[in-house]
Amino acid sequence: MTRLLRKAELHCHLEGAVPPALALAQARRYGVATDAFMKDGAYVWHDFTSFLGAYDAVSGLFRSEDDYALLTETYLDDLAAAGAIYSELFISPDHAEAVGVGADAYVAGIGRGIEAVRARSGIECRMVVVGLRHCGPERVEWAARYAAAARNPLMTGFNMAGEERMGAVADFARAFDIARDAGLGITIHAGELSGASSVRDALDLIRPTRIGHGVRAVEDPGLLARLADEGVVLEVCPGSNVALGVFPDFPAHPLRRLQAAGVKVTLNSDDPPFFKTSLEREYEIASRIMGFSDEELDTMTRTAIEAAFVDEETRARLL
Ligand code: ADE
Ligand code: ZN
Repeated sequence: MTRLLRKAELHCHLEGAVPPALALAQARRYGVATDAFMKDGAYVWHDFTSFLGAYDAVSGLFRSEDDYALLTETYLDDLAAAGAIYSELFISPDHAEAVGVGADAYVAGIGRGIEAVRARSGIECRMVVVGLRHCGPERVEWAARYAAAARNPLMTGFNMAGEERMGAVADFARAFDIARDAGLGITIHAGELSGASSVRDALDLIRPTRIGHGVRAVEDPGLLARLADEGVVLEVCPGSNVALGVFPDFPAHPLRRLQAAGVKVTLNSDDPPFFKTSLEREYEIASRIMGFSDEELDTMTRTAIEAAFVDEETRARLL
Protein backbone atom coordinates (compact mmCIF):
# COMPACT_ATOMS: atom_id res chain seq x y z
CA MET A 1 0.00 0.00 0.00
CA THR A 2 1.69 3.16 -1.17
CA ARG A 3 -1.23 5.49 -0.42
CA LEU A 4 0.38 6.84 2.74
CA LEU A 5 3.81 7.46 1.18
CA ARG A 6 4.87 11.03 0.45
CA LYS A 7 4.90 11.51 -3.31
CA ALA A 8 6.06 14.12 -5.79
CA GLU A 9 6.02 14.35 -9.55
CA LEU A 10 8.00 16.47 -11.95
CA HIS A 11 6.36 15.37 -15.19
CA CYS A 12 2.65 15.75 -15.84
CA HIS A 13 1.10 17.54 -18.82
CA LEU A 14 -1.91 19.63 -17.78
CA GLU A 15 -3.90 18.86 -20.94
CA GLY A 16 -2.94 15.22 -20.55
CA ALA A 17 -4.43 15.11 -17.05
CA VAL A 18 -8.07 15.76 -17.95
CA PRO A 19 -10.27 13.08 -16.34
CA PRO A 20 -12.61 11.66 -19.03
CA ALA A 21 -15.66 12.68 -16.96
CA LEU A 22 -14.48 16.30 -17.01
CA ALA A 23 -13.81 16.10 -20.77
CA LEU A 24 -17.38 14.84 -21.29
CA ALA A 25 -18.83 17.63 -19.15
CA GLN A 26 -16.83 20.24 -21.08
CA ALA A 27 -17.84 18.70 -24.42
CA ARG A 28 -21.53 18.86 -23.44
CA ARG A 29 -21.12 22.44 -22.34
CA TYR A 30 -19.56 23.53 -25.64
CA GLY A 31 -21.60 21.20 -27.86
CA VAL A 32 -18.59 19.23 -29.09
CA ALA A 33 -18.83 15.62 -30.33
CA THR A 34 -16.42 13.26 -28.56
CA ASP A 35 -16.68 10.09 -30.72
CA ALA A 36 -13.37 10.79 -32.47
CA PHE A 37 -11.33 10.60 -29.25
CA MET A 38 -13.49 8.92 -26.59
CA LYS A 39 -15.32 5.62 -26.30
CA ASP A 40 -17.08 4.19 -23.24
CA GLY A 41 -15.69 6.93 -21.02
CA ALA A 42 -12.04 6.39 -22.01
CA TYR A 43 -9.72 8.12 -24.46
CA VAL A 44 -9.13 6.35 -27.75
CA TRP A 45 -5.78 6.34 -29.55
CA HIS A 46 -3.59 3.63 -31.04
CA ASP A 47 -0.10 5.10 -31.47
CA PHE A 48 1.86 8.21 -30.52
CA THR A 49 0.52 10.25 -33.44
CA SER A 50 -3.11 9.45 -32.68
CA PHE A 51 -2.41 10.02 -28.98
CA LEU A 52 -1.26 13.57 -29.86
CA GLY A 53 -4.45 14.01 -31.92
CA ALA A 54 -6.66 12.93 -28.99
CA TYR A 55 -4.63 15.16 -26.67
CA ASP A 56 -5.20 18.18 -28.95
CA ALA A 57 -8.94 17.42 -29.14
CA VAL A 58 -9.24 17.24 -25.34
CA SER A 59 -7.25 20.49 -25.01
CA GLY A 60 -9.80 22.14 -27.28
CA LEU A 61 -12.51 21.57 -24.64
CA PHE A 62 -10.96 24.15 -22.29
CA ARG A 63 -11.78 27.60 -23.52
CA SER A 64 -11.57 30.12 -20.71
CA GLU A 65 -9.52 31.13 -17.70
CA ASP A 66 -12.16 29.52 -15.46
CA ASP A 67 -11.95 26.24 -17.42
CA TYR A 68 -8.21 26.06 -16.78
CA ALA A 69 -8.64 26.92 -13.10
CA LEU A 70 -11.16 24.06 -12.82
CA LEU A 71 -8.85 21.60 -14.61
CA THR A 72 -5.87 22.56 -12.44
CA GLU A 73 -7.90 22.22 -9.25
CA THR A 74 -9.29 18.85 -10.33
CA TYR A 75 -5.81 17.45 -11.01
CA LEU A 76 -4.19 18.87 -7.85
CA ASP A 77 -7.04 17.89 -5.51
CA ASP A 78 -6.71 14.27 -6.69
CA LEU A 79 -2.94 14.36 -6.39
CA ALA A 80 -3.00 15.80 -2.87
CA ALA A 81 -5.51 13.12 -1.83
CA ALA A 82 -3.03 10.48 -3.07
CA GLY A 83 -0.30 11.80 -0.76
CA ALA A 84 1.54 14.14 -3.12
CA ILE A 85 3.29 17.18 -1.68
CA TYR A 86 4.66 18.62 -4.92
CA SER A 87 3.88 18.66 -8.63
CA GLU A 88 5.36 20.28 -11.68
CA LEU A 89 2.77 20.82 -14.38
CA PHE A 90 3.78 21.08 -18.02
CA ILE A 91 1.69 23.81 -19.55
CA SER A 92 1.32 24.57 -23.23
CA PRO A 93 0.61 28.19 -24.19
CA ASP A 94 0.42 26.94 -27.81
CA HIS A 95 -2.69 24.92 -26.98
CA ALA A 96 -4.28 27.93 -25.25
CA GLU A 97 -3.58 30.15 -28.24
CA ALA A 98 -4.96 27.50 -30.60
CA VAL A 99 -8.30 27.49 -28.78
CA GLY A 100 -8.39 31.28 -28.62
CA VAL A 101 -7.97 31.73 -24.85
CA GLY A 102 -4.62 33.47 -25.06
CA ALA A 103 -1.59 32.51 -23.03
CA ASP A 104 -2.09 35.13 -20.30
CA ALA A 105 -5.63 34.03 -19.39
CA TYR A 106 -4.47 30.41 -19.54
CA VAL A 107 -1.62 31.03 -17.09
CA ALA A 108 -3.86 33.14 -14.85
CA GLY A 109 -6.42 30.31 -14.61
CA ILE A 110 -3.77 27.73 -13.83
CA GLY A 111 -2.21 30.02 -11.22
CA ARG A 112 -5.61 30.47 -9.54
CA GLY A 113 -6.05 26.69 -9.47
CA ILE A 114 -2.62 26.16 -7.93
CA GLU A 115 -3.24 28.72 -5.20
CA ALA A 116 -6.72 27.44 -4.37
CA VAL A 117 -5.54 23.85 -3.85
CA ARG A 118 -2.41 24.92 -1.97
CA ALA A 119 -4.67 26.84 0.44
CA ARG A 120 -6.80 23.77 1.22
CA SER A 121 -4.26 20.94 1.08
CA GLY A 122 -0.75 22.44 1.24
CA ILE A 123 0.40 20.84 -2.05
CA GLU A 124 2.97 22.96 -3.91
CA CYS A 125 2.90 23.19 -7.69
CA ARG A 126 4.94 25.02 -10.31
CA MET A 127 4.35 25.54 -14.02
CA VAL A 128 6.91 24.46 -16.61
CA VAL A 129 6.22 25.91 -20.05
CA VAL A 130 6.53 23.43 -22.92
CA GLY A 131 7.30 24.17 -26.52
CA LEU A 132 6.03 21.60 -29.02
CA ARG A 133 8.79 20.05 -31.09
CA HIS A 134 6.51 19.09 -33.98
CA CYS A 135 5.51 22.77 -34.33
CA GLY A 136 9.12 23.65 -35.22
CA PRO A 137 11.90 25.83 -33.76
CA GLU A 138 10.09 29.14 -34.27
CA ARG A 139 7.11 28.11 -32.17
CA VAL A 140 9.37 26.62 -29.49
CA GLU A 141 11.30 29.90 -29.37
CA TRP A 142 8.01 31.76 -29.07
CA ALA A 143 7.11 29.60 -26.04
CA ALA A 144 10.56 30.21 -24.52
CA ARG A 145 10.25 33.95 -24.99
CA TYR A 146 6.79 33.87 -23.45
CA ALA A 147 8.09 31.99 -20.40
CA ALA A 148 11.16 34.23 -20.12
CA ALA A 149 9.10 37.44 -20.21
CA ALA A 150 6.43 36.24 -17.78
CA ARG A 151 8.43 36.72 -14.57
CA ASN A 152 5.73 34.70 -12.80
CA PRO A 153 6.96 33.12 -9.54
CA LEU A 154 4.83 30.04 -10.22
CA MET A 155 6.35 29.58 -13.70
CA THR A 156 9.82 28.25 -13.06
CA GLY A 157 10.90 26.01 -15.93
CA PHE A 158 11.04 25.34 -19.65
CA ASN A 159 10.72 22.07 -21.54
CA MET A 160 10.14 20.69 -25.02
CA ALA A 161 7.59 17.93 -25.62
CA GLY A 162 5.89 16.52 -28.70
CA GLU A 163 7.19 14.38 -31.53
CA GLU A 164 10.78 13.53 -30.61
CA ARG A 165 11.42 11.98 -34.02
CA MET A 166 10.97 15.35 -35.76
CA GLY A 167 13.76 17.91 -36.21
CA ALA A 168 17.28 17.92 -34.75
CA VAL A 169 17.86 18.90 -31.12
CA ALA A 170 20.39 21.51 -32.31
CA ASP A 171 17.56 23.42 -34.02
CA PHE A 172 15.98 24.07 -30.63
CA ALA A 173 19.10 25.10 -28.70
CA ARG A 174 18.37 28.82 -29.06
CA ALA A 175 14.95 28.43 -27.42
CA PHE A 176 16.57 26.76 -24.43
CA ASP A 177 19.24 29.51 -24.26
CA ILE A 178 16.47 32.12 -24.02
CA ALA A 179 14.81 30.20 -21.17
CA ARG A 180 18.08 29.49 -19.33
CA ASP A 181 19.19 33.13 -19.58
CA ALA A 182 15.90 34.12 -17.93
CA GLY A 183 16.72 31.89 -14.96
CA LEU A 184 14.25 29.12 -15.78
CA GLY A 185 15.00 25.48 -14.95
CA ILE A 186 15.65 23.31 -17.99
CA THR A 187 14.28 19.88 -18.85
CA ILE A 188 13.59 18.23 -22.22
CA HIS A 189 11.76 15.15 -23.50
CA ALA A 190 14.40 12.76 -24.88
CA GLY A 191 15.04 9.04 -25.00
CA GLU A 192 11.36 8.09 -25.15
CA LEU A 193 10.41 7.58 -28.81
CA SER A 194 14.02 7.92 -29.96
CA GLY A 195 17.04 6.06 -28.62
CA ALA A 196 20.14 6.82 -26.58
CA SER A 197 21.60 9.24 -29.15
CA SER A 198 18.65 11.55 -28.51
CA VAL A 199 19.60 11.69 -24.80
CA ARG A 200 23.25 12.29 -25.70
CA ASP A 201 22.29 15.16 -28.03
CA ALA A 202 20.09 16.67 -25.34
CA LEU A 203 22.96 16.57 -22.82
CA ASP A 204 25.49 18.01 -25.28
CA LEU A 205 23.34 20.71 -26.85
CA ILE A 206 20.74 21.68 -24.26
CA ARG A 207 22.57 20.99 -20.95
CA PRO A 208 19.42 20.18 -18.90
CA THR A 209 19.48 19.30 -15.22
CA ARG A 210 16.65 16.82 -15.88
CA ILE A 211 15.41 14.75 -18.79
CA GLY A 212 11.81 13.81 -19.49
CA HIS A 213 11.81 10.00 -19.80
CA GLY A 214 15.46 9.41 -20.81
CA VAL A 215 14.75 5.71 -20.28
CA ARG A 216 16.27 4.62 -23.57
CA ALA A 217 19.67 5.69 -22.23
CA VAL A 218 19.61 2.09 -21.00
CA GLU A 219 20.63 1.10 -24.55
CA ASP A 220 24.09 2.65 -23.97
CA PRO A 221 26.12 1.77 -20.83
CA GLY A 222 28.52 4.69 -21.41
CA LEU A 223 25.62 7.09 -21.43
CA LEU A 224 24.24 5.61 -18.21
CA ALA A 225 27.60 6.25 -16.55
CA ARG A 226 27.58 9.83 -17.83
CA LEU A 227 24.05 10.47 -16.51
CA ALA A 228 25.07 9.08 -13.13
CA ASP A 229 28.32 11.11 -13.10
CA GLU A 230 26.63 14.35 -14.04
CA GLY A 231 23.72 13.79 -11.64
CA VAL A 232 21.10 14.38 -14.34
CA VAL A 233 17.66 13.43 -13.01
CA LEU A 234 15.33 11.32 -15.12
CA GLU A 235 11.58 11.96 -15.01
CA VAL A 236 10.56 8.34 -15.50
CA CYS A 237 6.96 7.52 -16.49
CA PRO A 238 6.62 3.70 -16.54
CA GLY A 239 2.85 3.60 -17.20
CA SER A 240 3.23 5.96 -20.15
CA ASN A 241 6.16 3.96 -21.54
CA VAL A 242 4.26 0.67 -21.44
CA ALA A 243 1.04 2.23 -22.82
CA LEU A 244 2.97 3.73 -25.75
CA GLY A 245 4.85 0.49 -26.39
CA VAL A 246 8.32 1.87 -25.57
CA PHE A 247 8.68 -1.31 -23.44
CA PRO A 248 6.39 -4.35 -23.72
CA ASP A 249 5.48 -4.63 -20.02
CA PHE A 250 6.51 -3.52 -16.52
CA PRO A 251 8.96 -6.35 -15.84
CA ALA A 252 10.82 -5.25 -19.00
CA HIS A 253 10.86 -1.60 -17.95
CA PRO A 254 14.41 -0.36 -17.16
CA LEU A 255 13.63 1.72 -14.03
CA ARG A 256 15.50 -0.73 -11.79
CA ARG A 257 18.48 -0.94 -14.16
CA LEU A 258 18.70 2.86 -14.34
CA GLN A 259 18.61 3.16 -10.55
CA ALA A 260 21.14 0.35 -10.12
CA ALA A 261 23.51 2.17 -12.51
CA GLY A 262 23.46 5.14 -10.14
CA VAL A 263 21.19 7.32 -12.27
CA LYS A 264 18.87 9.62 -10.28
CA VAL A 265 15.28 8.60 -11.01
CA THR A 266 11.81 9.90 -10.14
CA LEU A 267 8.28 8.54 -10.73
CA ASN A 268 5.77 10.45 -12.84
CA SER A 269 2.35 10.06 -14.47
CA ASP A 270 2.89 11.98 -17.78
CA ASP A 271 -0.70 12.01 -19.16
CA PRO A 272 -2.46 9.91 -16.54
CA PRO A 273 -5.97 9.16 -17.92
CA PHE A 274 -4.65 8.68 -21.46
CA PHE A 275 -2.38 5.94 -20.14
CA LYS A 276 -4.86 4.65 -17.54
CA THR A 277 -2.54 5.60 -14.73
CA SER A 278 -2.08 8.01 -11.83
CA LEU A 279 0.90 8.99 -9.71
CA GLU A 280 -0.37 6.61 -7.03
CA ARG A 281 -0.47 3.77 -9.55
CA GLU A 282 3.11 4.54 -10.64
CA TYR A 283 4.29 4.17 -7.04
CA GLU A 284 2.19 0.99 -6.74
CA ILE A 285 3.75 -0.50 -9.91
CA ALA A 286 7.25 0.37 -8.72
CA SER A 287 6.49 -1.29 -5.40
CA ARG A 288 4.60 -4.42 -6.42
CA ILE A 289 5.96 -5.24 -9.87
CA MET A 290 9.45 -3.75 -9.78
CA GLY A 291 10.17 -4.55 -6.13
CA PHE A 292 11.14 -1.10 -4.86
CA SER A 293 10.98 -0.80 -1.06
CA ASP A 294 9.13 2.03 0.68
CA GLU A 295 12.52 3.53 1.52
CA GLU A 296 13.56 3.45 -2.15
CA LEU A 297 10.25 5.04 -3.14
CA ASP A 298 10.83 7.77 -0.58
CA THR A 299 14.29 8.34 -2.07
CA MET A 300 12.61 8.94 -5.45
CA THR A 301 10.27 11.47 -3.84
CA ARG A 302 13.26 13.23 -2.24
CA THR A 303 15.14 13.17 -5.56
CA ALA A 304 12.14 14.90 -7.17
CA ILE A 305 12.13 17.62 -4.51
CA GLU A 306 15.91 18.06 -4.84
CA ALA A 307 15.54 18.46 -8.62
CA ALA A 308 12.39 20.60 -8.49
CA PHE A 309 12.39 24.04 -10.05
CA VAL A 310 11.61 25.84 -6.79
CA ASP A 311 13.29 28.41 -4.55
CA GLU A 312 15.53 27.03 -1.82
CA GLU A 313 13.16 27.95 1.00
CA THR A 314 10.31 25.93 -0.53
CA ARG A 315 12.68 23.02 -1.28
CA ALA A 316 13.93 22.94 2.33
CA ARG A 317 10.35 22.95 3.62
CA LEU A 318 9.35 20.06 1.34
CA LEU A 319 12.43 17.93 2.02
N1 ADE B 1 3.17 15.37 -24.79
C1 ADE B 1 2.32 14.80 -23.94
N2 ADE B 1 2.76 13.58 -23.58
C2 ADE B 1 3.93 13.38 -24.21
C3 ADE B 1 4.88 12.33 -24.25
N3 ADE B 1 4.73 11.21 -23.54
N4 ADE B 1 5.96 12.48 -25.05
C4 ADE B 1 6.13 13.59 -25.76
N5 ADE B 1 5.28 14.61 -25.75
C5 ADE B 1 4.18 14.52 -24.98
ZN1 ZN C 1 5.76 14.02 -21.16
